Amino acid sequence: MNIRIFSDERTAAVYAAAVIEYVVQTTEHPVLGLATGSTPVPLYDQLVEFHQAGLSFAHVTTINLDEYVGLPPSHPQSYHAFMEEHLFRYIDVRKENTNIPRGDVQDLAGECKRYDEVIKNHPIDVQVLGIGVNGHIGFNEPDSVLKVGTHVVTLAEETIAANSRFFASTQEVPNRAITVGLQPILRAKKVLLLAFGEAKAQAVMQAISGDVRTSLPASILQVHPNVTFVLDQGAARVFLEEEKRKHATYNHG
Ligand code: GLP
Repeated sequence: MNIRIFSDERTAAVYAAAVIEYVVQTTEHPVLGLATGSTPVPLYDQLVEFHQAGLSFAHVTTINLDEYVGLPPSHPQSYHAFMEEHLFRYIDVRKENTNIPRGDVQDLAGECKRYDEVIKNHPIDVQVLGIGVNGHIGFNEPDSVLKVGTHVVTLAEETIAANSRFFASTQEVPNRAITVGLQPILRAKKVLLLAFGEAKAQAVMQAISGDVRTSLPASILQVHPNVTFVLDQGAARVFLEEEKRKHATYNHG
């Protein structure tokens, strides 16, 4: 597990975007696993800048992690709208090569199956992840079990509270989502987990330390052979304190 700590999220985003540019440039049919939330926004801004500087996404396929149940793509808080607003409208990725699960279909079980097929046909080269304050990845919430494939999940209270900032009120936040399971994330050739700000410091520390546990879904990344945590100083705070403490203990016996 690699840990990269940057002075601020903009520099961290440049690093992550450069990793993605390399994959896009050196892979014949690159598949990018993409995330939503406020964390990847500076990364998408940077990719747009790279595109304006000449990087093409015309041969890229994208696979998003999740979508709210009940929100059509036209809803401003849907993850379909988010991706359009922050990335897709500015780059030359082909619409038919972008994939996001639909949360507005009657047959959610059928949609999960369909999405698993899409993933099976497009193994992910680089997976971008954020992390929830409770350690969730995608919408794989802390639970007694973790799911392998795409599934419908009831969102944890802290997730609804955290995401209510995007909606007019907490009541408007959908309480269910459709999310990929852990298999495509663990099968991705490379994982970049981005975390910015002190609010994520505890979740980051819990993910990288201790045993793999279903109560902290991001901890499963410890078994991935190529994962990089891309952090700013805030998100790295607890980790850095612990390193300092270990160092002091070592130096003073
Ligand atoms: C959201 C998304 C996750 C995201 C996380 C953190 O609910 N489903 O993919 O990583 O929660 O969001 P943010 O980056 O806004 O803190």
